[in-house]
Amino acid sequence: MSVDATPDRAVRPTGTEEVQVELRAKANEIKARYPVGRERSALLPMLHLVQSADGYVSPEGIAFCAAELGLTKAEVGAVATFYTMYKRRPVGEYLVSVCTNTMCGVLGGQKAYEVLSEYLGVGHDQTTPDGQITLEHAECLAACDYAPVLTVNYEFYDQVDSGQALELVKQLQNGERPQPTRGARLCSFKEISLQLAGFHADKDPGIADGPAGEPTLAGNRLAERTGVSVPNFDPNTPIPPVAPKATTPPPAAPKPAVDRKPAGDTPAGANDPREGDKK
Ligand code: FES
Repeated sequence: MSVDATPDRAVRPTGTEEVQVELRAKANEIKARYPVGRERSALLPMLHLVQSADGYVSPEGIAFCAAELGLTKAEVGAVATFYTMYKRRPVGEYLVSVCTNTMCGVLGGQKAYEVLSEYLGVGHDQTTPDGQITLEHAECLAACDYAPVLTVNYEFYDQVDSGQALELVKQLQNGERPQPTRGARLCSFKEISLQLAGFHADKDPGIADGPAGEPTLAGNRLAERTGVSVPNFDPNTPIPPVAPKATTPPPAAPKPAVDRKPAGDTPAGANDPREGDKK
């Protein structure tokens, strides 16, 4: 990214003039999704947008977001460093996230991570020298019923043991894009970043939409088989409407400490009755 001479757009994103124009247009599109005066709410998709240009949230990307949204770079940086999906170092073509949390970990996720780490020669949050693969540990990916799982650029590969994980990575290295178990088709990290910024008109349709899969229903099936049920539970019980919350006035702000001046701050003579006598 480099600096633009335009005063109101002090920072511009990376790339050719054509790419820059396109990014500016996309930034405007993102901002237009929010009410006038609330453009700063566009920060999360804007961060994905700059990731789609640079492959991570670069210092220039932070400056770009700040300039576009009227924020300070510190404010943008605080948000960008809070969420794990915003990367602080350049990510490879494929971000391989292996879940090593409890369920996946005990079912083989930890072993899969170790096998990949040894094969690729990289550790957590590191990228292979050819810039192809970034490996990371992931916390629970919310797919415990399909454990052990890993994602590539956030697309799911379910019930993957260490051998299958290794095979998957080798396919990526060979330029293949193996079909995820469900969800959308695989794309590059920059492409998925653009989709996460809200530009997914050209996205291929999902490949496994539909009802819950068998692993998700396993507990239900077991309960049915063994006759386990919640006494008096009626799945058709209507959910009562929630009463609107009473609006209470905000509590009065505490009196600023500066009002309670320490004795030493009192101007000389202010409390001296003799001073009044002089008037
Ligand atoms: S523990 Fe791996 S998806 Fe939940």
